[in-house]
Parts: sequence; C-alpha cells; structure tokens
Amino acid sequence: MRVVVLISGSGSNLQAIMDAIEIGHLKAQIVAVVSNRKSAYGLERAGNAGIDTVYFPLKPYNDEGKSRETYDADLAEAVDLYQPDLIVLAGWMHIFSPAFLEKFPEKVINLHPALPGQFTGTNAIKRAFVAAREGTIKNSGIMVHYAIPEVDAGDVIIHAEVPILPGDTIQVFEERMHLTEHKLIVTAIALLADKHDTSNSD
Ligand code: GRF
Repeated sequence: MRVVVLISGSGSNLQAIMDAIEIGHLKAQIVAVVSNRKSAYGLERAGNAGIDTVYFPLKPYNDEGKSRETYDADLAEAVDLYQPDLIVLAGWMHIFSPAFLEKFPEKVINLHPALPGQFTGTNAIKRAFVAAREGTIKNSGIMVHYAIPEVDAGDVIIHAEVPILPGDTIQVFEERMHLTEHKLIVTAIALLADKHDTSNSD
C-alpha cells in the first residue's frame, strides 16, 4: 500500500509509522512526506530515511490573493503524482476543502488527540486536561477518522481511551497520549493495509 504522510511539525507519529514499516509490522510504503512548514522536523526524519519530501507552503497563495481551494487543488495534484492508496494526516495543521478531499475519496485519514465528538480543533490535549481538573471528564483519548471538510469529524476508523489520573501533570498526561497515538496510527494503517490487500487479491 502506497502511503503519503502530511505533517506540519515534529513528526513523532510519522516516526512511529516509519519504525513499524522498518521492523515489518506494517505492510506499507511511505512514498512521500509533505509539509506546509519548512521548519517541520518531520521533514528531516523523512529525509534521513531516504523518503521523498515536499514542502508546500500556503503563504505564496495568500500573497498572490489565491484561494485556499486553489492551494488545496494544486496540493492534490502534487500528492497525486505519488499515486497514493492512502493519505495520512499526522499533525497536519490545515483544514482541507473538498478541492483536496474529493480527489481522494475515502483515502484521507486524520489523527486527532481526542475522543470522537470531543475537543475538536487545536489544543485538544490541554483542553481535556483542564476539563478533567474541572471534574467534567475522567478520560480523554485518540481517534483516527476519515477526513471530511468539517474539522476532526468524519467516520471513525479506530479510537482508544486514555485516562487522566488525579496525580497527573499535563506533561505526564501528554506523554501518555502521544504513546497511545503512536500505537493507534500504526494499528489504523495496518487495518487499512489488510483491507487494501484483500480488495487487491479479489
Ligand atoms: C499529534 O498529537 C496529533 O494527534 C496532532 O498533532 C500532533 C502531531 O505530533 N494532530 P507529531 O508532529 O506527529 O509529533
């Protein structure tokens, strides 16, 4: 299964996917890593592993008065050159319009550090921690879902609950969340790789 990973930051989830492929846990191939931020450390992780990297900033489009839809459509063309079977949004900080998503029906999945329907958008881990301190929740979690134009919505592929313990600091809780998401994104891709293999062998 040919995978393109889109990132905007450190790329620890990208690293988890790369490591799982490396040790044979994941039957997939990362054919490219795309970032909308030049400083994303994930680009270095990919480059060091010999994976093609693409830097695709939004700023030139803003500067030229071009729409986000135009950016999304052009990025879709760039990604399509790699003929992906799956596109993984792993810390990709840009909400896609139909101009991108319609090019890859049911092929774009997103990782979000909250349970379905909870804490959509940014800073989800911090917001969950604060809610737990206010006593409104005991658990948070991680989900992997199909991307749709509505942020952090779309059919859920897999999710996992993560407890917020009374003695937790935000750092301890955040670490527990990242450890969980590194496993969950690999499990989600493995599920889709099996589906892909099955549909290709039929
Ligand atoms: C992750 O927590 C992911 O769930 C969220 O952004 C973060 C990216 O982390 N959407 P990294 O760049 O993979 O380390």
